[in-house]
Amino acid sequence: MNTYNETVKPKILVVDDEEGIRKQLKWALSSQYEVLLAQDKQSALKVFKESTPQVVALDINLYPYSDKQEQGMEILEDIMSLDPRIKVIMITGNDKKEFALRAIEIGAYDYFLKPIDIEEIKVLIKRALYIQRLEQENEKLAKDLETRHKFEDIIGDCPQMQGVFAMIKKAAPTDITVLIEGESGTGKELVARAIHNNSPRKDKPFVIINCGAIPENLLESELFGHEKGSFTDAHAQRKGKFEMAEQGTIFLDEIGELSLSLQVKLLRFLQERVIERVGANQRIELDVRIIAATNSNLRKRAKEGTFREDLYYRLSVLGIHLPSLRERGDDILLLMNSYLNRFNRKSSKKIKGISKQAIKAAREYPWPGNIRELENKLKRAVILTSNSLISAEDLGLKPVENNQSKLLKEARQQLEIKFIKEALAKTRGNVSQAARKIGISRVSFYGLMKKYNIMSPNFTLD
Ligand SMILES: Nc1ncnc2c1ncn2[C@@H]1O[C@H](COP(=O)(O)OP(=O)(O)OP(=O)(O)O)[C@@H](O)[C@H]1O
Ligand SMILES: [Mg+2]
Repeated sequence: MNTYNETVKPKILVVDDEEGIRKQLKWALSSQYEVLLAQDKQSALKVFKESTPQVVALDINLYPYSDKQEQGMEILEDIMSLDPRIKVIMITGNDKKEFALRAIEIGAYDYFLKPIDIEEIKVLIKRALYIQRLEQENEKLAKDLETRHKFEDIIGDCPQMQGVFAMIKKAAPTDITVLIEGESGTGKELVARAIHNNSPRKDKPFVIINCGAIPENLLESELFGHEKGSFTDAHAQRKGKFEMAEQGTIFLDEIGELSLSLQVKLLRFLQERVIERVGANQRIELDVRIIAATNSNLRKRAKEGTFREDLYYRLSVLGIHLPSLRERGDDILLLMNSYLNRFNRKSSKKIKGISKQAIKAAREYPWPGNIRELENKLKRAVILTSNSLISAEDLGLKPVENNQSKLLKEARQQLEIKFIKEALAKTRGNVSQAARKIGISRVSFYGLMKKYNIMSPNFTLD
């Protein structure tokens, strides 16, 4: 379908077997619209496909197939399936109104009755075009909003995340080494993948290695490979992750865990783009892009001397800092809804949403495990809940008391303290008598004294 354009006349297709009606409509509408004509199903579909009109005026009752109104209905169904946003106005005789209503059920926009009232059809067409334009604008806004909220799978609307998206876009087309910093679960791997997937290397390997998960003595061979017999368990020659990533990207996760000796080897690769397998002195030249990640403050460690400063500068040619979930404001709502939709789809449950109280609790909670923790808590909640709304308890969070109930609770406590103190003063610290005075058991009275830290028998009223 053509998008609405003020300067070009909108196209209207008139489908009617009666030449008189075709001529009448063409004459009446031509000043405002480009009027296309068809007299049967075949020509209607042909013109529709070729000229993509915005509005179709369609006769339900197409002669010479007068015994079956189905012709008009068939055309309606066909063009609706070609373009669900098309506005079709049915033309019908007074005696065929029920067909017009059926057509509307199928998806026709409106109908009008013969004999044709030109003013009426002009109003109908104008309104159809107006509504169509609103629908298009809405669709575009919704799309813009959705794409603004995310970059690939990374959801984020807060300014910090918009900044992260901008950095990803800047880094992706280049070979620049990138250092991603952020607390655990903030999406470092997701960002690394997004950079790779948007880079010219996207069809080549993306190889991940977690420098913190592999014992130091094995890590070197894991990264750079080894020759047969280079150490006790080296039964055969083996390629390392760097070689596997040739022409692609290597993601060095938890780079802060790299030993000083491996830091030197990595630095050498960054300077000369060559590696050596363990137990070999042959230099292998490689074309590998490096993306590294850390959840510790590497700059600080470089300053302190626990991480090589020169390597730090080589790695952080472009630094991307991922904010914690606590710093992302309303993004938590976007993320919760997105996970809810995803887990709803996977489970047979149809959970409607997240309760206000749960959202409040989620906003208060500090999320030490960030997005990963949020994802896990929602997954668990969807599995466990039997409510239509996810509650704070379903998420394993403490419900937040609202201000009003907090105030009430405080007022009640003040009153209780006052009663107890007065009763004790009047009975000179005799708990049994004091309890009787305010009409509760001795045990409960003691309970309250303990709760409010009120002493007896040396009690005095202050
Ligand atoms: N902005 C986001 N939008 C949607 N999902 C996200 C976002 N950030 C992280 N996630 C999801 O959270 C989980 C953790 O992300 P990821 O593994 O990338 O974090 P990480 O920073 O590498 O964590 P760690 O430091 O623990 O390795 C993944 O399932 C990822 O898909
Ligand atoms: Mg990770």
